[in-house]
Amino acid sequence: MNSPLLELSQVSYRYPDGSIGLDGCSLRIARGSRNVLIGANGSGKTTLFQHCNGLLRAQSGAVRYGGKDIDYGRAGLRDLRGKVGMVFQNPDHQLFSASVQEDVSFGPLNLGLDMATVRQRVTAALQAVGMAEHANKAVHNLSFGQKKRVCIAGVLAMEPELLVLDEPMAGLDHAMQKELLAVLDGLHRRGITLLLATHNIDFAYRWAEHIHLMAGGRCTVSLNASELGEHAAALAAVGLPLPEVINLHRGLVDCGLLPATPAPRCTHSLLSMLANVNIAKETHEKLPQIPC
Ligand SMILES: Nc1ncnc2c1ncn2[C@@H]1O[C@H](COP(=O)(O)OP(=O)(O)O)[C@@H](O)[C@H]1O
Ligand SMILES: [Mg+2]
Repeated sequence: MNSPLLELSQVSYRYPDGSIGLDGCSLRIARGSRNVLIGANGSGKTTLFQHCNGLLRAQSGAVRYGGKDIDYGRAGLRDLRGKVGMVFQNPDHQLFSASVQEDVSFGPLNLGLDMATVRQRVTAALQAVGMAEHANKAVHNLSFGQKKRVCIAGVLAMEPELLVLDEPMAGLDHAMQKELLAVLDGLHRRGITLLLATHNIDFAYRWAEHIHLMAGGRCTVSLNASELGEHAAALAAVGLPLPEVINLHRGLVDCGLLPATPAPRCTHSLLSMLANVNIAKETHEKLPQIPC
């Protein structure tokens, strides 16, 4: 990897009550990439995220952003938090203003931007998450999914380089999850680096370019998502199965129905591959149509 955008080297952090949050954790995030952090509850994902924007400070080891050690002074942290946007798991821990517009304006106002620029950024951010028509709504009247989108808008209005999202799909219904994914894909196309935590290995395999496994306060393995099938043992070690589509594909390869490569990353791609296989027409017609 060229010089990473974010790098943790051997970072350890112990909470005041003695609990180990991170234990010699190393991780590299490439600029412009889509990353998933996956691991059991208590494996250190949230603690790691809080090190990304200086909310927590490594007690040993180093956190570098853009090739430089984080500057924990007032100005250094303000600069870092303008570049690294963080969306917490629970939107009620992030939103504190009365109206949507006020909440999204808070970050850019804090950056010292003029009112015209703030207004323009707030409008663009609310549009990006599909919440423009709710700008004047009271935050407490929003649904959970809408609150989540307002949180993302608040961070986007800062025009971050890296967006860190802690379990963004948790608590969202299927339609909202799809919408959120579309928002994230749009951000990725704009060049924003994405790092998100999830428990869902099928989603991680389908969406991420890089998957980082967390266990016991450290990143045990970082791999290209396309190589995930070769890492069943590493997944099992953190209590995760292989993605379903890998098992399905392997079964079809064993039956001689599909070639071993390319490996499909979702059931939709798997079915497209099957549609091109020379099997009886009646069998084709029986294949289910599963959306991605
Ligand atoms: N505020 C806290 N005080 C004490 N211990 C904490 C605190 N937050 C997290 N921990 C502990 O740190 C470890 C990692 O937690 P966390 O980073 O929240 O993991 P994850 O996000 O993967 O569920 C766990 O053992 C957890 O109990
Ligand atoms: Mg967590």
